[in-house]
Amino acid sequence: MKETNETYRGLQPTVLLSPVPVVLVSCAGERPNALTVAWAGTVCSHPPMVSISLRRERFSYELIRSSGEFVINLADEVHSRAVDYCGIRSGRKEDKLAACGLQTVPMEQMAIAPAVQGFPVHMGCRVRQVVPLGSHDLFLAEVVSVRVREDLFDPDGSLHLERASLLCYNHGVYQRAEQVIGFFGWSVARKDVYERRMLSLRGRR
Ligand SMILES: Cc1cc2nc3c(=O)[nH]c(=O)nc-3n(C[C@H](O)[C@H](O)[C@H](O)COP(=O)(O)O)c2cc1C
Repeated sequence: MKETNETYRGLQPTVLLSPVPVVLVSCAGERPNALTVAWAGTVCSHPPMVSISLRRERFSYELIRSSGEFVINLADEVHSRAVDYCGIRSGRKEDKLAACGLQTVPMEQMAIAPAVQGFPVHMGCRVRQVVPLGSHDLFLAEVVSVRVREDLFDPDGSLHLERASLLCYNHGVYQRAEQVIGFFGWSVARKDVYERRMLSLRGRR
């Protein structure tokens, strides 16, 4: 390995896993609500499962705990202001979705949790386990329904999430995950395969 002369500064133990997706999690009680979540993750492929970590003081915490369901709405650039707003204000005091001009739509397999119209991806999630960890409780949930906005498909049916201007969260900053620099397996792909895939991925933007 090439020798370099970078130096490092030690920090107190903290979680610096970055960037991460930032999502709008919708749920419902007497009315629909949504909160912004950055501590979300993929935890299993079969069955498809995700996690979200919530502080118990969130208004949405009890809504999700008692209904046992929520919808993950992947966030894109055009919704970044609404995403921030729903992560600052509480649904305990106001209808945040209305304040942001967002509309909810029913979600397949969900009894009451709606999806938020316009967001590129909706995932209906059913809570399987809640694990208290400390500041946050970890909700492990199975993805029981998914839908993706039509404009993200090619005529041949292939899905292109790289075109969705998805938002990520990078240590307190929102960023767009935009430029394609490779694809799964590109480091070992044949030159002609690499060039064809990259041309098509880059040509589409
Ligand atoms: C970028 C961002 C990420 C956040 N991530 C989380 C999170 O992972 N878990 C959590 O409990 N709160 C998180 N929050 C805070 C909640 O979204 C916020 O407290 C919100 O107002 C709760 O809404 P509610 O009271 O209507 O449920 C985040 C806020 C922002 C702005």
